[in-house]
Amino acid sequence: MPQIVLQNIKKSFGAVTVVENLNLTMAANEFTVLVGPSGCGKSTILRMIAGLEALTAGEILIDGKPVAHLEPKDRDIAMVFQDYALYPHMNVARNMSFALRLANYPKKEIESRVKKVADMLGIESLLARKPAQLSGGQRQRVAMGRALVRDASTFLFDEPLSNLDAKLRTQMRAELALMRRRLEKNMIYVTHDQVEAMTLGDRIVVLRNGAIQQQGSAEQLYKTPVNKFVAGFLGSPPMNFFDGTLGETDGRLAVSGQDYHLPLPDAMRARVGGLKDDKVIVGIRPSAFTIANGDPAAGIRLDLPVVLPEYIGSQSVIVSRLGGQQIQIEVSSDTPLGDNATLTFTLDPRSVYLFNPHTEATL
Ligand SMILES: Nc1ncnc2c1ncn2[C@@H]1O[C@H](COP(=O)(O)OP(=O)(O)O)[C@@H](O)[C@H]1O
Ligand SMILES: [Mg+2]
Repeated sequence: MPQIVLQNIKKSFGAVTVVENLNLTMAANEFTVLVGPSGCGKSTILRMIAGLEALTAGEILIDGKPVAHLEPKDRDIAMVFQDYALYPHMNVARNMSFALRLANYPKKEIESRVKKVADMLGIESLLARKPAQLSGGQRQRVAMGRALVRDASTFLFDEPLSNLDAKLRTQMRAELALMRRRLEKNMIYVTHDQVEAMTLGDRIVVLRNGAIQQQGSAEQLYKTPVNKFVAGFLGSPPMNFFDGTLGETDGRLAVSGQDYHLPLPDAMRARVGGLKDDKVIVGIRPSAFTIANGDPAAGIRLDLPVVLPEYIGSQSVIVSRLGGQQIQIEVSSDTPLGDNATLTFTLDPRSVYLFNPHTEATL
């Protein structure tokens, strides 16, 4: 049975509508990630689920029961805020136990829960400290701990890692992924970071301007994006886009532009049938190019200029030009990039994406 259902959710602030007719069903004990650029409505959606923001229209069902009219405390939900919102005058133990004390839990029960969660998060030694005496990563753990002691059925996380530096963020992300396996809970996690979304989410929901673009597993979204926005949002470096014109060469469908010509798989023919004209947007991921190894038969051959080689350790990113645009190409860092003015690549025609230039839908 689905655990949390958002039905025709609408949210306006005065004349401005931030979320319009949003529908989303999350399965029980699922880790759902809402991902999208800053300002797309992620926090607003989370706050509506938590009961901190009223709905303009629509309903929220938890376990089949409407909850939109319930106070936050009656929703069996715990939330971790982006800015942690710790009480500065309380030590870690008191911050963590705040909600339990408010709900008049027995002292023994409070102590045992705080200890258990502090152990799990590795903050046992910090219980007597005040928030000002903690590092960013430690504060983040305390904020997490304060939610976890509540043992609610649903946990909401609003960009919990966004204030941490890159190294700590990677470490905390892995810890979250491990913790998530131990906890049989509904979790809804909001982030603007596509890597966090892809590594943590069972279900990833991509949002843009308060509307769902696509939802699915990381692999589904990466391999079969429904539109240019999703294609460009997931993956790093991002997918390259440039303009193209469809045509036929020797009876084969092809797309071409000012400096390129790419034959396309036959399967593409049916999909481009409904286009108004022959104009498309071409999308190719930086990882789709491989350095040619003297086997001209495999894939499409492309001679591309090396505008700028960027060595970043495990791989190199070559800035090149294709279709009149600057593009990025990912290659192994073993690739000698020396003084080559151009490099020869092969490209599998199946790795070429086409988008309708008017609707930006994937063809
Ligand atoms: N209380 C508010 N009053 C007016 N506008 C708001 C309010 N809260 C959020 N917004 C607007 O709603 C939009 C979505 O905000 P938010 O949900 O915080 O986005 P995100 O969390 O995805 O960055 C933004 O344009 C923001 O300015
Ligand atoms: Mg936000």
